[in-house]
Amino acid sequence: MPLVTTTEMFKKAYEGGYAIGAFNVNNMEIIQGITEAAKEENAPLILQVSKGARNYAKPVYLTKLVEAAIEDTGLPICLHLDHGDSFETCKSCIDGGFTSVMIDGSHLPFEENVALTRKVVEYAHDRGVVVEGELGRLAGVEDEVKVKKEDSSYTQPEEVNEFVSKTGVDSLAIAIGTSHGAYKFKPGTKPQLRFDILEKVSELLPGFPIVLHGASSVIPEFVDEINKYGGKMDGALGVPEEMLRQAASMAVCKINIDSDLRLAMTAAVRKHFAENPSDFDPRQYLKPARAAIKEMVRHKLLNVLGCNGKA
Ligand code: G3H
Ligand code: 13P
Ligand code: ZN
Repeated sequence: MPLVTTTEMFKKAYEGGYAIGAFNVNNMEIIQGITEAAKEENAPLILQVSKGARNYAKPVYLTKLVEAAIEDTGLPICLHLDHGDSFETCKSCIDGGFTSVMIDGSHLPFEENVALTRKVVEYAHDRGVVVEGELGRLAGVEDEVKVKKEDSSYTQPEEVNEFVSKTGVDSLAIAIGTSHGAYKFKPGTKPQLRFDILEKVSELLPGFPIVLHGASSVIPEFVDEINKYGGKMDGALGVPEEMLRQAASMAVCKINIDSDLRLAMTAAVRKHFAENPSDFDPRQYLKPARAAIKEMVRHKLLNVLGCNGKA
C-alpha cells in the first residue's frame, strides 16, 4: 500500500467519534515502535516530521524509513509535515513525497496567515496533498520556537469560517488551552481546556476535521521513572486522558503526540543505564527504548484515541 492522505481517515474518524494518532518521528526506533503497535492493533496512522526532525535525520532518511514501515506493516500511513514554517519547507516536503503538510501561520496577522496558507493549499492540492492550517496560538516549546504563556491565544470561533473558505484547508488546528512540551499546566492547578470553543467551532464547521496539538498526557509513572534514575522533571504535567477522549468524541480527528513518546523513551534508556552501567552497545539501550515507544502507542490507541481496529 502506498502512503495515503488523511481524507478517508478523517471522514471515518469524524463519523465514528474517534481520533487518529499523529506521532512525531525522529529515527528508526521511534518509527518501528509506533508502527509495530499500530500493526498489532490494526490502527491507521499519521507519522509526522517536524522541521527539527528533518534537520536532525536528513529528509531522505525519514521518508525512506516510513516507506519501509509501510512495506513491513501494510498499514494505511500518512506522512505529514508538522508545523511547516514557510511555503518553501512545505514545497520541499510535497516534492519529496509527503501526503500531508501543516502550514503554521498562527503567529501571523489573520490576513497574512490566510495568504500563506492559501499559497500552500494551491501547490499541495494540485499534487494530491492535503493541508492543515492553524488559527490561535499554543504556548510551549517546539524546535527553537518558544511561545510564552502570555503570548499564546485561544482560537476565535468567529474567524474559522472565513479562514477555511478563503484558504481551502483540509483540517484546522485550534488552540483551546493545550500546549507543547511536558509542562502544560501549573502543578497544583486543575488542567482545563476550552471545550466551549471546540463546540462552537464544530457548530460553525459541521463535519470538518479539527486537530489538537500539544496533546501529550505526561503520564506521572514515566516522569517518576525519569526522576528515579537521575533525571530532573519536577512539575511536569499534561492533558488528562479523559479530556482527550472527550475531544476525540467531538470534532477532533487528529491528536498530536510527541512528548509522551520522548518521556517513555528517556525513562527506558535511563533505567537501562542505571541497571547496566557498563553497557555501551546502542542496540542494548535502544531495544528497551523502542519497546517503551510501542507500549506507549498501544496505550494511546486503545485508551485515548479509539482508532484500534479501524485501519
Ligand atoms: O510541536 C512540536 C513537536 O513536539 C516537534 O518538536 O520541533 O522539537 O521536533 P521538535
Ligand atoms: P506534545 O508536546 O504535547 O506531545 O505535542 C506535540 C505536538 O503538538 C506536535 O505538533
Ligand atoms: Zn504541535
